[in-house]
Amino acid sequence: MNTKDLILKKLVENKGKFISGEFLRQDFDISRTAVWKHILKLREDGYQIEAVSNRGYCLRDFQDIFDRSAIISQLNTKLLGKNLIFLDEVDSTNNELKRLAAAGASEGTTVIAKKQLAGRGRRGREWFSIDEKGIYMSVLLKPDIAPEEVQAITLAASSAVCKAIDSYTRTKPGIKWPNDILLNGKKVCGILTELSAEPDKINSIILGIGINVCRKQEEFPAEISKIATSLSEHSDFELSRSRIVAKVIEEIEDLYMDFLEKGSTAKFLNIWRSFSVTLGCDIYICQGDKKWKGKALDVLDNGHLLVETADGERQAISSGEISIRNVCGNITWGRYSNGSKQ
Ligand code: BTN
Repeated sequence: MNTKDLILKKLVENKGKFISGEFLRQDFDISRTAVWKHILKLREDGYQIEAVSNRGYCLRDFQDIFDRSAIISQLNTKLLGKNLIFLDEVDSTNNELKRLAAAGASEGTTVIAKKQLAGRGRRGREWFSIDEKGIYMSVLLKPDIAPEEVQAITLAASSAVCKAIDSYTRTKPGIKWPNDILLNGKKVCGILTELSAEPDKINSIILGIGINVCRKQEEFPAEISKIATSLSEHSDFELSRSRIVAKVIEEIEDLYMDFLEKGSTAKFLNIWRSFSVTLGCDIYICQGDKKWKGKALDVLDNGHLLVETADGERQAISSGEISIRNVCGNITWGRYSNGSKQ
């Protein structure tokens, strides 16, 4: 972090309170003039910082400034986001992180973009992200696990996002297995996990997370406007993308570290269960061109979905897509994936 970002972090931590110029001068071992220059630069970046002689500097309100400094000034993590790349635009944050991983990027490297020119969803679909009304981010993990354990890790991501957004929404977010996050049955977040692995070992996992934040219902492409939604449509708060990003990264780190320390998926699977809108429901399972009915019973330690078939048999589902009859309604398949498809 550079000095300007460190000063911003101090102001954010003490939001609404004055910090004296002398305190900042001593803390960062710079001159009073240098402190003032950093404050002016932060003001140019859009931060409303009050300056009062004999009292110091105060950040009154933290508006939705969405840039690298705003995110890192609010981020309290040990590993994830320590190397944080913030881009105005990119083809896809997953593609960019894949390029960085191939060049040796370390675990925890995170790429965030204001917009994506070729955002990708699951199953080769498009992820609508060419406006600046969402969060598009990818996180690099390098756990020492077998490829069959990856599915579980991806559920840590949806559990973390639900924990992060729950406090901003009027309605409780729900997870449709494996990783679609819904608000009132409409998709608000999707997760695209991509893997580099050898037969018995993971090289790296890229968790690509897309959250619709402040796109109005009528601003979605027609194909998905009935099945996708935004946080702002279900929130009474002024939403700050930088605050939400920081919270998502912190929640992922918390669940991921717990998994690494204990070698157990229990903590995040219990969170996943508490947000699930899948378990206990009658569902359709779609695998290739096969579609069959079942009842979702539980999620297993490895992240697979335990389903009871119509003839009472139990099966663990590791891939494919499901639709929940009473949650998603009669939704048709389409090109885009911001909304959950039946
Ligand atoms: C889905 O189809 O539900 C998954 C959507 C994942 C979208 C995110 S946005 C950030 C990252 N970059 C991409 O190109 N896709 C993922």
